[in-house]
Amino acid sequence: MDLRAVFRPEGGCTEGARKRRVSRRVSPIPQRKITVVGAGYVGMSVAQKCAEKNLAAEICLTDVLEGRAEGIALDLNQAAAIEGYTSRVVGTCEPGPTERSDLFIVTAGRPRKPGMSRSDLLEVNGRIVVEVADVIRERSPDAIVIVVTNPLDPMTGLMRARTGFPARRVCGMAGLLDASRFSWFIAEALRTSVKDVDAMVLGAHGDSMVPLPNACTVNGIALGELLDRPTIAALSDRTRHGGAEIVGLLKTGSAFYAPASSAVAMAASILNDERRLLPCSCLLNGQFGVEGIYTGVPAILGKMGVERIVELPLDTEARIQMQKTVGEIQKDMEALRDSGLS
Ligand code: 2OP
Repeated sequence: MDLRAVFRPEGGCTEGARKRRVSRRVSPIPQRKITVVGAGYVGMSVAQKCAEKNLAAEICLTDVLEGRAEGIALDLNQAAAIEGYTSRVVGTCEPGPTERSDLFIVTAGRPRKPGMSRSDLLEVNGRIVVEVADVIRERSPDAIVIVVTNPLDPMTGLMRARTGFPARRVCGMAGLLDASRFSWFIAEALRTSVKDVDAMVLGAHGDSMVPLPNACTVNGIALGELLDRPTIAALSDRTRHGGAEIVGLLKTGSAFYAPASSAVAMAASILNDERRLLPCSCLLNGQFGVEGIYTGVPAILGKMGVERIVELPLDTEARIQMQKTVGEIQKDMEALRDSGLS
């Protein structure tokens, strides 16, 4: 092939070569950086989903285990040619590469074992969250943080206290996961598509969580019109124990696909300024009659983080459950203070 036909003597290129080069150019992805802390099952699923959605030009995956995050990152990058994403995953066991991240998704911490409650992880995971918070505060002072580590609500409160970030920039992933479980159970009971189910779960990410049947619809039809009260009560209860059900089946770990999908949906709403209204753990400042506690509430997530907390009317039963669930979180926060972690 006569290369002179392709390149002009002055080193330019022919129209055909220029067109080919332009056609190969991929659509530019947002020049931003997400750091996923923890390359366990949840963390690596989060990294994969962020990459496949091209959520950021760079996805930094970190883990204390040398080589783990690096190996998973290399593996994910080697899927890019097939999956077509242009996000680049960087694996590291050092804090340096996380610098100037726009968003953190913190999954580091021990998972539950069968028979354990999430609160049993308070101290061991509290120490990890403190370490992570110090790195975030020092190296990415403008970042938004989504906490996934359990026990979720106290860990999110600890993250905010330790980073000193404004409350809008620190939230926890839980309500969306619980609502997604509730949606699945409702869809299964009705033998309808889960795509038409909208469910809402408030409160702690724990056995005291508050599924809200009165706020659940199936393509606009109130749940109470479609299922009887005993069935709804059974589905609500299965939702409360949805995490434990999977821990009991897996024996050696906890759920990771649905938690990862939930965290990435929150991240996308923030980074793309989608302003979705999603249940997540936020710092309440009088909303629902609660002051100074992180717990699951409906919130609008946009480029500033938690743009607005949305209150909705609660019936007497839900109000009582909300008080109970907040009490459980307060107990965990006191235990954190007693252990000197906050
Ligand atoms: C769950 O509910 C791990 O807390 C998470 O599965």
